[in-house]
Amino acid sequence: MKKVNVAIVGATGMVGRTFLKVLEERNFPIDNLYLFSSARSAGSKVEFKGKEYTVEELNENSFDRDIQIALFSAGGSISEKYAPIAASKGVVVVDNSSAWRMDENVPLVVPEVNPDAVKEHKGIIANPNCSTIQAMVPLKPLNDKYNIKRIVYSTYQAVSGSGVKGTKDLEDGIKGLENKFYPHPIAYNCLPHIDVFMDNGYTKEEMKMINETMKILNDYDLKITATTVRVPVVNGHSESINVEFEKDFDIEELKALLANSQGLELVDDIENNVYPTAFELSGRDEVFVGRVRRDFSVDSGINMWVVADNIRKGAATNAVQIAELLLKYDLV
Ligand SMILES: NC(=O)c1ccc[n+]([C@@H]2O[C@H](COP(=O)([O-])OP(=O)(O)OC[C@H]3O[C@@H](n4cnc5c(N)ncnc54)[C@H](OP(=O)(O)O)[C@@H]3O)[C@@H](O)[C@H]2O)c1
Repeated sequence: MKKVNVAIVGATGMVGRTFLKVLEERNFPIDNLYLFSSARSAGSKVEFKGKEYTVEELNENSFDRDIQIALFSAGGSISEKYAPIAASKGVVVVDNSSAWRMDENVPLVVPEVNPDAVKEHKGIIANPNCSTIQAMVPLKPLNDKYNIKRIVYSTYQAVSGSGVKGTKDLEDGIKGLENKFYPHPIAYNCLPHIDVFMDNGYTKEEMKMINETMKILNDYDLKITATTVRVPVVNGHSESINVEFEKDFDIEELKALLANSQGLELVDDIENNVYPTAFELSGRDEVFVGRVRRDFSVDSGINMWVVADNIRKGAATNAVQIAELLLKYDLV
């Protein structure tokens, strides 16, 4: 199999380290690997497949070498500046930040949902927001079969989604120490506030879910609303999703459709208290769905509970799957 040269920008971060784990687990065909961070971690050593690599400080000349794919996860401002520099040198960037997601020249890709969109890339491909990715995996097959009219998202998002600082606030709060990152204590609490507030009263996280869903499903008439909540869970996002359809459905057929969908596992046996939970499914790459039931308040609708590891499927795994598509379609 063809091998490629890969760069990781933000290699020392929570997502960056998981990129390395996932690339190794999936045996991604890497020839040369280049790791970048800020000046803070430059010079540190990282092991990959039994070999030691030295992390370099990212600069404007970092991509002046033979690199085919760069996985970015160092925040929006770094992506804004460096993704175009990398792309101008022939590197295909898979970007984890929100910087490029809504750019009309940038495909926004969940490999189980819209794999062919990668073919439209002009140097940058965006990984959707973690909470959007896990929602798309069950919603795509449901939309194809029953035509979605309206979606109501309510999320229960882990502190790892805020990177190292969020995790520290939860650990400190449990020890009785003061929170430094979130505006209120996250230990023993729920915060209906993820990312900044917008003029319309929604948070930016809520608007990301709404706008990214429309772009990925390529349906700008969908009615969608969202409330995103940070909860004192270390890792793994949970979502309650209420969906209304145009067509009617048989609940057992709908569950079978979900059970047979790619990248999805149906975990739904309420008689035995079986449903997906973030604590138990952290570390997995699939999206898990349970509590699937008819919403009796509308003509045709369901409620479901959707869980995924936000650092894996919500970030690193999805990005590596995109890189795999680039190889599969011979785009690098
Ligand atoms: N956590 C999630 O669930 C999640 C999900 C999806 C997307 N994302 C996105 O992924 C990105 C990183 O998140 P994270 O949770 O991994 O954060 P993190 O743990 O704080 O890591 C940040 C990484 O970026 C590097 N970095 C910071 N400033 C830099 C600079 N000026 N130049 C080069 N590298 C720099 C850091 O290097 P140093 O070690 O030198 O500081 C570190 O490697 C963010 O854009 C985030 O929105 C996160």
